[in-house]
Amino acid sequence: MAISSLSDELRASTRAAHDRLERLPFALSLAAGSLPIESYVGYLRAMAVLHAVMEHELPVEAEERIDAIWRDGMRRLPALHRDLAHFAPQDLGHIPAAQRAADEVANRLLLRSAEAPLSMLGYLYVLEGSILGAAVLKSQAERAFALDPVHGLCYLGQDARAGRQRWQGFRQRLDGLALSAEEGAAVEAAAIEAFAGIESVLRALYPFDREALVRAPTALNP
Ligand code: HEM
Repeated sequence: MAISSLSDELRASTRAAHDRLERLPFALSLAAGSLPIESYVGYLRAMAVLHAVMEHELPVEAEERIDAIWRDGMRRLPALHRDLAHFAPQDLGHIPAAQRAADEVANRLLLRSAEAPLSMLGYLYVLEGSILGAAVLKSQAERAFALDPVHGLCYLGQDARAGRQRWQGFRQRLDGLALSAEEGAAVEAAAIEAFAGIESVLRALYPFDREALVRAPTALNP
């Protein structure tokens, strides 16, 4: 019987969740060029919350198997900050339900950091993997919002070839880890949890109630 790698298992166990994301009104509307800019910027804000937690917690975990995976150059928060700085002058309203959903995901991630740090790699798998799909989302956002790569597309805008190389390296490192069956299952459960959390963020981001939009001066400091 062939033994599948951790990354293959993660892909298999999250495929249905990923397919669901692609069929959400957020994704369909972005593809159709009709997504409101508040939803797109809300996505960047939500991802900034998740990346801020991930990129703060992972490097300080006392776990050598996390050290074997994490590289400082994997940080994506700086790109998110560049994008959010671009949109800041527009003072776009925040979608409170999406902020709450992002906070909930971030809290679950923090809980894992405290109780089962290694399982954070499941979240990292989901965020790293999103770079692959970002190439698709990037061209959709570029068209829909008339953006150029340095103005609002930094997070999605990594060069596709570099993104693939980065993904191959990440997968190799992940598949080289020695994990017990229990640890592997915890990473998998975390990846499924991450997708579920991100789905709740995307559902809140579109459609949304325009009357409920709020202004938040902390936009640049998630
Ligand atoms: C909503 C619209 C989305 C579209 C159209 C999309 C599209 C894609 C595509 C085309 C790939 C495969 C690329 C390839 O193998 O060549 C991919 C992979 C992936 N995407 Fe998405 N994606 C979307 C959203 C997301 C989001 C929001 C996340 C998580 C934050 C995500 C996480 C992943 C992961 C983890 C993989 C890698 C799966 C694997 O091969 O192990 N995607 N996506």
